[in-house]
Amino acid sequence: MPKVVIESLESPGVTVTLDVKDGGALVDLCDENPTPVPFSCRSASCGTCRVDVLEGMDQLLAPEDEELDILDVFGDDPKKRRLACQAKMRPGVGLLRIRPVAVDV
Ligand code: FES
Repeated sequence: MPKVVIESLESPGVTVTLDVKDGGALVDLCDENPTPVPFSCRSASCGTCRVDVLEGMDQLLAPEDEELDILDVFGDDPKKRRLACQAKMRPGVGLLRIRPVAVDV
């Protein structure tokens, strides 16, 4: 069963581990469970939900143009970083490990 491990940015070493039955959107997974991933626009506009993919990028479907455009605005490498509001997991067995990106204030 696919598994998503979400590391906490504020509390190093604290993780949320979720079993994912059939893949699907990361945003739905985060809505259905208490996770440390922040969201704002949910439409690939603000970059609030950017996450570093620490392991298992191959568990995600390729980013679409909207996601690539906002990652480009932030200078992010889509091979290492994704938008949690847009990324979708493939169905199947695998591990995805992510961590929210620190936001400069
Ligand atoms: S929540 Fe705004 S880009 Fe994902």
